[in-house]
Amino acid sequence: MLIGVNVDHIATIRQARLGIDPDPVMAATLAILGGADGITVHLREDRRHIQDRDLALLKAVVPVELNLEMAATKEMTGIAVRTKPDLVTLVPEKRKELTTEGGLDVRSQKTVVKEAVRRIRNAGIPVSLFINPDIDVIELSKQVNADMVEIHTGLYANARGKKQESELKRISIAVKHAINIGLHVNAGHGLNYFNVSKVVSIPGIRGLYIGHSIVSRAVLVGMERAVREMKDLIKEASGRI
Ligand code: PXP
Repeated sequence: MLIGVNVDHIATIRQARLGIDPDPVMAATLAILGGADGITVHLREDRRHIQDRDLALLKAVVPVELNLEMAATKEMTGIAVRTKPDLVTLVPEKRKELTTEGGLDVRSQKTVVKEAVRRIRNAGIPVSLFINPDIDVIELSKQVNADMVEIHTGLYANARGKKQESELKRISIAVKHAINIGLHVNAGHGLNYFNVSKVVSIPGIRGLYIGHSIVSRAVLVGMERAVREMKDLIKEASGRI
């Protein structure tokens, strides 16, 4: 199972002083040394953390999957087509949110999403949609010609006890359905060192995309070690399937 490390939060610290460090590009190289199979950045319309320069440098130096998270806007689609990351993940974006809050509303934005998917795929870049674990949204994702979906694990991550079990079940049903209709399936959001194993145990997931928990641990123990520890947990949980 692939692990993609989101380095946005490194850029958030840098932007606190509008300086040059810590550098998300350097963090990405350390994450790769720790075993990251991919690096993710979210280039937001307001450029609150990742900057255009980061994306250009990452494209030049990252030897593993570079996943660009972005809103399905004309500006972002243009940037994606010019930069050619290995994967584009379309996400909803609101200016005031602390992080991506829910999955993409593919139903109400169907035309816009379909056009973005078309333009990006025409440039030879596979497209993933970040969606809630709902069967109807999975169907819509297929209808707009996405290659992959990333199932939002936030509700599972925030729930406890029985509610967490039912959220896990919901994710598991969604993963199965998506695979059955020919989509590749990733998962992410809110995953940490304590809740990741149960998601790993769902068969068929291609990759996990994790940011906050890894960067938080990296602040204390270093990026390379933080990624290695997460990767070891995922490997261990995969072995138990
Ligand atoms: N996947 C997507 C689409 C996201 O927007 C984010 C948050 O940037 C993540 C995964 C990672 O979430 P977290 O930072 O909670 O691990």
